[in-house]
Amino acid sequence: MPAIEVNNLAKVYSNGACALSDVSFSFPRGKVLTVVGPNGAGKTTLLRILGTNLLPTSGEARVLGYDVLKEPSQVRLRIAMVPQEGRPELYLTVWQSVFCYLLARGFRWKDARINAESAVKAMGLWERRHYMSSQLSGGQRQRVLIAMALATGAEVLILDEPTIGLDPIARRELNSFLGRLRNEATVIITTHMLDEAEYLSDQVMFIDGGKIQAFDSPASLKQAVPVSEKMIFDGSVEHKDFSALGLMTGLGGKPVLYPNSREAAKRVIEIALDQELTVTVQPITLEDVYFFMLGKHREEEEGWKQQVGLTV
Ligand SMILES: Nc1ncnc2c1ncn2[C@@H]1O[C@H](COP(=O)(O)OP(=O)(O)OP(=O)(O)O)[C@@H](O)[C@H]1O
Ligand SMILES: [Mg+2]
Repeated sequence: MPAIEVNNLAKVYSNGACALSDVSFSFPRGKVLTVVGPNGAGKTTLLRILGTNLLPTSGEARVLGYDVLKEPSQVRLRIAMVPQEGRPELYLTVWQSVFCYLLARGFRWKDARINAESAVKAMGLWERRHYMSSQLSGGQRQRVLIAMALATGAEVLILDEPTIGLDPIARRELNSFLGRLRNEATVIITTHMLDEAEYLSDQVMFIDGGKIQAFDSPASLKQAVPVSEKMIFDGSVEHKDFSALGLMTGLGGKPVLYPNSREAAKRVIEIALDQELTVTVQPITLEDVYFFMLGKHREEEEGWKQQVGLTV
């Protein structure tokens, strides 16, 4: 039985906003699924429905075989969530937040102590366990929420942008912790950090406009786009010199060209040498796949390419 099974799920909010439409997928146990997509894509809506925090308008969702509509208490026993923009209770200490949460979930006193201690330590909060959350920084409060979820040892973890506000080392520590949970727990996570998604995920779901645009392993997603490398220029370039050779973008940072072919890449290097430009060739990452998949989708809708300064 899969960990998550979703059939024709749709959500239309009361104001008429359609956040999800016809979403269907199945995801096995013991793996990590990352849901990525632009702001407003429907990620939080999907996670909240799976976490029994929000009712779908139509369709079906099952977590570990339990229907989120008909058996929500069975689902809740087996999941733990970090909601987007959640906040721990400000006047509880770190220790109280985690330990009391476990007691409330039905843990025995001794087990709650053991689990709380290891989760608080794993989140680097042990020294501050007697601080109230009101005395913590934003990132430290986020760590409290993550510690609460991890301490449960739940079979399914639903984490909505858990790394937001975490410093780079804390982010890596969380990701490697989640990676180690593989085989023991199923993790469904959202992030806008695509390097994180690439490192962590068994499967990545690209979602936009409430619909699944792609759903596969990071490696397969990279193979599904028509390029395998990108060329990064160190300094400004004349787009017209390269526009016949691939897709050029100047969006936020150094100019990048996705060459049409090997021959085109060689030609780019020749031109770069002639013009004394420095160009670096790198394999594409999941971020480039995002750019291709979701950018293309938007282009059809709203002349996206012109908006972001893309030339072909
Ligand atoms: N309570 C609500 N009432 C009405 N519309 C809502 C509500 N919550 C979300 N929406 C709409 O549903 C759509 C999807 O929102 P959702 O929060 O699922 O996006 P998201 O992918 O999580 O985005 P982000 O990356 O910004 O967190 C958006 O268009 C949003 O305006
Ligand atoms: Mg969200």
